[in-house]
Amino acid sequence: MSQTTSLDILVLAAGKGTRMRSDLPKVLHPIGGKALVQHVVDTARSIGGQQILIIIGHGAEKVEACMAAPDVKFVLQAQQLGTGHAVQQALPKLRNDATVLILYGDVPLTRADTLQKLIAAVSDKQMGLLTVNMQDPTGYGRIIRNASGAVQAIVEHKDANDEQRKISEINTGIMAVKTRHLQQWLPQLQNNNSQGEYYLTDIIALAQQSGVSIHVEQPNAVEEVEGINNRQQQAALERFYQKQKANELMVVGVTLLDPARFDCRGNLQTGRDVVIDINCVFEGDVVLGDGVVIEPNCIIINSKIGSNTHIKAYSHVEDSVLAADCDIGPYARLRPGTQLADGVKIGNFVETKKAVIAKGSKVNHLSYIGDAIIGSDVNVGAGTITCNYDGVNKFKTEIGDNVFVGSNSALVAPLKIGSGSTIAAGSVITKDIESAELAIARGKQRNIQGWQRPTKK
Ligand code: UD1
Ligand code: CA
Repeated sequence: MSQTTSLDILVLAAGKGTRMRSDLPKVLHPIGGKALVQHVVDTARSIGGQQILIIIGHGAEKVEACMAAPDVKFVLQAQQLGTGHAVQQALPKLRNDATVLILYGDVPLTRADTLQKLIAAVSDKQMGLLTVNMQDPTGYGRIIRNASGAVQAIVEHKDANDEQRKISEINTGIMAVKTRHLQQWLPQLQNNNSQGEYYLTDIIALAQQSGVSIHVEQPNAVEEVEGINNRQQQAALERFYQKQKANELMVVGVTLLDPARFDCRGNLQTGRDVVIDINCVFEGDVVLGDGVVIEPNCIIINSKIGSNTHIKAYSHVEDSVLAADCDIGPYARLRPGTQLADGVKIGNFVETKKAVIAKGSKVNHLSYIGDAIIGSDVNVGAGTITCNYDGVNKFKTEIGDNVFVGSNSALVAPLKIGSGSTIAAGSVITKDIESAELAIARGKQRNIQGWQRPTKK
């Protein structure tokens, strides 16, 4: 029976989201660092929606600017006259022979497999409806079934009588149906109800009258169909999402010292035997190699961490690539463009930016290394600063292999420091240094005998 049908996916996102009390359109608020409607569109793509149509209204320009993509089209619903009216606006763009899946821009976590089941149920004689049983169904549309259990209609809470309000099975809003059926039913919708709206839910009764049966699916978890209307619901769904992410990681063998104190706002890829301590945040695309250990309170953004590298507590790593066996922190800050080869050590209160550091080199204490290329086995002493900026331009510091930079040196770029050279502590280096030279650039010490310290009267 099953044949590959073309799939159009509609995402309703025109509503206002008053209860968020925000200048940002509701569907652009994030879960797991990603806009609600982006979650929906990503899921739509993953199930092979050939055409994705987003119905926009409130904050239309912002939503369109954020969501523009080659496979996404926008349909403006200038006035929000109801969910049925919203779908009606898209009708001219739907392909005649397609199956249409209707999703909501503020319901971010519906699983692809749940939706696949709904789509698979659609035929000329049947449509699919996603329902769920709620302990407190207040506010939702109720599913009305006949004596033999077949779905007959949906009645909105505001239009329901006391008997109907006792029904705990509710409409999630998500459904799948043939375009041809929508073309037939949507023009028949009326707005003579308590909210004066064109209800999409009224097509269920119309389906029943046309001899099209309603196939019901339910999600694995109620969170899959929960929408976000306020900050509390957003926070609750964020926790659910993070719990899921944490669980996926543990399933593939990651140690999370406390899955309740873990946050992933992007894509995190992990090797074998990775250990992540509490309160770490991962943003964007992060790759952790085998045996990586991340101590508490680290933030890792768009970075690749090589195997067996150890990131100690309170470190911040952004747009950086670290090879194997590095030792970072505690309290290190690796800024964009940091590239560390195997076995590099970056210690406490060290900031790096556009710093390419070769094998085995160490910057262990209180330093700033910016716009620098450092060779292998270099030791950068405590308090060393690359002075890379004159207030207008940035300049580069190049340090060869096996250089020893004494503590508290200022390296005034542009500068080339030859391999094997030594810089005496406290130097202000302004000229290039040849290989194997010693550079001392500091005031000479004078010792004054018999010096009297001032005394208090
Ligand atoms: C709707 C359903 C209800 C279901 C509930 C699930 C109808 C009539 N009712 O009710 O059965 O239990 O969702 O959450 O469909 N939207 C538009 N344009 C509009 C109106 C709404 O794009 O003109 C969008 C909203 O942005 C939102 C979604 O449609 O994403 C649902 O609209 P909302 O007003 O929240 O519907 P409910 O009254 O909650
Ligand atoms: Ca709603």
